[in-house]
Amino acid sequence: MVKGSYELASKLVADMIRDELEKKPNMILGLATGSTPLGVYKELIRLHKEEGVDFSNITTFNLDEYVGLGKDHPQSYYYYMRNILFNHINIREENIFIQDGKAEDFNRECERYDELIKEKGGIDLQILGIGENGHIAFNEPADKLSVGTCIVQLTDSTINVNSRFFDSIEEVPKTAITMGIGSIMQAKKIILMADGEKKADIMKKLLESKYISTDIPASLLLLHQDLTIVLTRSAYKL
Ligand code: PGA
Repeated sequence: MVKGSYELASKLVADMIRDELEKKPNMILGLATGSTPLGVYKELIRLHKEEGVDFSNITTFNLDEYVGLGKDHPQSYYYYMRNILFNHINIREENIFIQDGKAEDFNRECERYDELIKEKGGIDLQILGIGENGHIAFNEPADKLSVGTCIVQLTDSTINVNSRFFDSIEEVPKTAITMGIGSIMQAKKIILMADGEKKADIMKKLLESKYISTDIPASLLLLHQDLTIVLTRSAYKL
């Protein structure tokens, strides 16, 4: 576990991505949206523009997407990724994968996504944030967690937290399509990032817990063989 300022944490994660990329230029990178990875993406853009880091052979898979929001909706995660990262580095369009929030058949879309990840050889490095309720991607606390990509009902907590990006809470989609816990756990390397006081309670719970539980989906990560937790000071209250 590493602690530091948000800037330091972001640089550290970007450096870990760069190290992977040096070892494997055609790496498969799992990406997250939200506020937490913004600094990482900013640093990846700097690495590309100022240090010539080459992203032309990487493939990316995003964790999740809102059901009902198309690629051109400003709150869709596709739109976020394009604006925050993809438009500013030399990744190839055909190597970008995000679930289709407007799919005609969502069961098929879930299967297709998992097949694609397998076909590409699995995720080498997965970047993750954590929800205040312990969710990872949109795997919300529940009795059961899905192994593969699935459709989930968002909890009131997540809808409330995410409403900060929408004009009103009514506009926040209630459903999302998310990589399952199994898909995430199959990544060869995982980096879980947490930033901000609002994450301090869940991180304390997670790190002090001696148990895994579907009530805290992120706790399943403690079983992973190559997990790095990167906390900023504000998220650390142990
Ligand atoms: P955040 O979201 O980075 O915007 O805090 C993280 C998450 O909900 O997984």
